[in-house]
Amino acid sequence: MPTDLQNTTTIKIVVLGAAGGIGQSLSLLIKSQIHYMVRGTQSDIRIHLALYDINEDMVSGVVADLSHVDTPVTISAHYNDGLQECLTNASIILIPAGVPRKPGMTRDDLFTVNAGIVSQLTDSIIKYCDLSKLFILLISNPINSLVPVMIQKLISSENNGYGIEKRLFGITILDSTRGSTFLKDTIISQKTSSGLHNMEMPQVPVIGGHSGNTIIPVYSQCPAADNLSQETINHLVHRVQYGGDEIVQAKKGKGSATLSMAHSSFKMLTKFMDLLLGNTPDITITSFISLRDSKNEPIAQGSIELQSRIQDLQFFAIPTEVTLQGINEIKYKIIDYLNSKESNDLLPICINELKKNIDQGLNFHKSIK
Ligand code: NAD
Ligand code: LMR
Repeated sequence: MPTDLQNTTTIKIVVLGAAGGIGQSLSLLIKSQIHYMVRGTQSDIRIHLALYDINEDMVSGVVADLSHVDTPVTISAHYNDGLQECLTNASIILIPAGVPRKPGMTRDDLFTVNAGIVSQLTDSIIKYCDLSKLFILLISNPINSLVPVMIQKLISSENNGYGIEKRLFGITILDSTRGSTFLKDTIISQKTSSGLHNMEMPQVPVIGGHSGNTIIPVYSQCPAADNLSQETINHLVHRVQYGGDEIVQAKKGKGSATLSMAHSSFKMLTKFMDLLLGNTPDITITSFISLRDSKNEPIAQGSIELQSRIQDLQFFAIPTEVTLQGINEIKYKIIDYLNSKESNDLLPICINELKKNIDQGLNFHKSIK
């Protein structure tokens, strides 16, 4: 949310873990592209991109490099004890800080290290940010467990009371990016009629979580997939669920998806920028969110009867309407619209696995006490 400074409104975008694979490419996209979203009537708006990493040399180098990119976005480098300066007046924080997978690892194998990193960063966010206005987009894995780790800290902080749990989003959009890309490739290779023109991409909703069989690509809700056989759909579903592994294997121990992730998280950021810039009163996004607030009440409106399938879950990736105040409505209807395969096969497996991932996250603070 913007900070007013002498008739100038500054939107401060923070990237924590900015010197890494995702951080660098995402920062380039922000520095080079984000100012295009500012309209002519918004001439008093400034955008500040603040980059933090524990790798001092790399983050300084990245900022030196990006500072030569000819856009009006202000950029600053922060490291070591520079978190306070980096986080102060943040409007939106993107967090790709943490370790990525190597071949043979699951995202769960990253939990202990990344929960420690994300937990420490959350402490600083609580200390230095205005939680009543902030949006937080978490990228670090495992999303299914780290969102619960962060939420617990945020809602138990003295600073709470601002509904920050309505403004924390675990980023799962890469699954939808993959779902759309793999579908388009299939339509082209099978020469199937899809109703799309050549340069048009299908939009595939993906719900559940962000790992293996917790990922539910909802091809039944994508008209472009209507003419594909069930066998082809099954293949696509499996490929989306394990798409991350393709990249981990291709990079042979040098990391996981970075460029497609930077692209995907930048798409998500542009939606939030539309809100922050006042271009729209609300946006619709899908991400891994808390379904309940700090009092265990439903976090937002939504049709109660449709919640029953996932009523035992505290967190889920699902489409939501978001305003400047945070999640305003959860679009539970998508669960009712699942076809029998999605509803009877994919959803129960997802729920079962997600429960374990969520519990792992919720138990983290107990385990380190
Ligand atoms: P990377 O190793 O290239 O970069 C991580 C960066 O985090 C490094 O620069 C490192 O110095 C920094 N870092 C570590 N501890 C830090 C701390 N305490 N404070 C600030 N910075 C810190 O890794 P990457 O490829 O950029 O991936 C980052 C994370 O994103 C991984 O956990 C990966 O699994 C995850 N990821 C998530 C998605 C998704 O869809 N949500 C997609 C791809 C990757
Ligand atoms: C992905 O889906 O590519 C990311 O979650 C990174 C990974 O570990 O697979």
